[in-house]
Amino acid sequence: MHPVLSLLAGAGVVSAWTEIHHKTFMNKNVDPIVLPGTYTSHMHTFFGSDAVTKDMPTSADLQKGCYSGENPNDLSAYWVPTLYHVDGDVFTEVPVFRFSTYYINSFSEIAIPQDFSMLSGNASAQSQAAAGDSPNNLEWFCEGSDERESDIAKFPTSTCDQHLQVSLRFPNCVNPDNLAEYDFSDDSNKCPEGMKQFSQLRYAVRYDTKSVAPDGWSGDAPFQLSCGDAVGNGYCFHGDFINGWFEDAAENMLNNGGGGYDDGQFIGGEHGEAAAEATCTPADQDPDNGTSDYWTSVEMKGGDVPADASETSAAVATPASTTFMSASIPKPTFSHKRKFATRLN
Ligand SMILES: *[C@@H]1O[C@H](CO)[C@@H](O)[C@H](O)[C@H]1NC(C)=O
Ligand SMILES: *[C@@H]1O[C@H](CO)[C@@H](O)[C@H](O)[C@H]1NC(C)=O
Repeated sequence: MHPVLSLLAGAGVVSAWTEIHHKTFMNKNVDPIVLPGTYTSHMHTFFGSDAVTKDMPTSADLQKGCYSGENPNDLSAYWVPTLYHVDGDVFTEVPVFRFSTYYINSFSEIAIPQDFSMLSGNASAQSQAAAGDSPNNLEWFCEGSDERESDIAKFPTSTCDQHLQVSLRFPNCVNPDNLAEYDFSDDSNKCPEGMKQFSQLRYAVRYDTKSVAPDGWSGDAPFQLSCGDAVGNGYCFHGDFINGWFEDAAENMLNNGGGGYDDGQFIGGEHGEAAAEATCTPADQDPDNGTSDYWTSVEMKGGDVPADASETSAAVATPASTTFMSASIPKPTFSHKRKFATRLN
C-alpha cells in the first residue's frame, strides 16, 4: 500500500479526489510561465481555458475564455510537452487519447489561490538522475500494467496493450503571501514553514500510440518529447498550470463535505452543478503567430533543422474513440514504487 494512503487510513482521514477530462485544443511553441512574451519555446500541448497565449494571463483572463474540459467551474490552463513518434527526421504527433486532471484533497488548508501558477518536473532533464527522485512521482508506463522500467521516466521497452501513460504530481503547498513560493508537503504531510496546503493536482496523460506505431516496438520506444534530445525516454516531461477555477468553486473544493469531497465528486459552483462541455469551441487565440509544427518550432528557438525534416501530422487530433465524458470514474492509481521522500527545491 502507498505509504501516504496507509497513513491516511491510520489517521481516519479520507483522501478524496475529483477528476476532470480535458480535450486538446492547441499545439503551440509558447510557454507563458517560463518564456512569457515569446514564440521560442519547445512545442506544448494545451488543455483547459483557451485564453492562454504567449503572455501570462491572470485567473480572471482565463475565466473569460472557452474551456476544453467538462467542468464549467474550471477555466484553468494546463499544458505539457508534445509527444512525437519519430521515424528518422519525420516527427508525427502522438494524439492524446485522454488528459485527466485529478485534485486530491487530503490535508488542504486553503483553496487554490487566484492567480497562482506552478510547474512540476524538470524540462531540461535528459537522464533519470536529472529527472530526480522527486515527490512529483513522474513515471511512464503502459496503462493497466504494473511493470516499470528501472529508469521510471523511461518509456516502456515493449508495446503497450492499451495506452502509453504518464503520471505527474504537482506541489501542494504555497506561501499565501508570495504565490511564487511553492513546494511539496513532506513525508508527514506537512508543508514547509510559512506555507499552506491546497488540493494536490495530478496529471495523467494517455497517448494513442497505436495510431502512429501500429506495429508496436521492442527496445527503446520510437517516441520523443518536444523537450527531449533522444527517442526512448520521457525524462523531461513536465507540467504547467495556471489556476482558473472560479473562486467559489475553489472554495467548494476545499470545504465540500467538511474538509474533503467524496471520491470522484463533481466540484460545483455558480457556473454549473453538473459536468458539461462548453457551448463555445476552444481555439488558439493567436493563430497568426508562433507555430504548431515541430521543425518550425525548432527553427524558431534557434535550433538546427535537417534538410529532410518533415512533420506528417501538424493538426491537433482527437481520436474518435475518445471517451470524453466517462460515466464510470476510474480510481486514480498511486505509485507503489516511489515514496514521498525528497523535496523538490
Ligand atoms: C534538471 O536537469 C538539468 C539538466 O540535466 C540539471 O542540471 C538540473 O540539476 C536538474 N534540476 C533538478 C532540480 O534536478
Ligand atoms: C500576430 O500576427 C498578426 C497578423 O500577422 C500581427 O498583426 C500581430 O502583430 C502579431 N502579433 C505579434 C505579437 O507578433
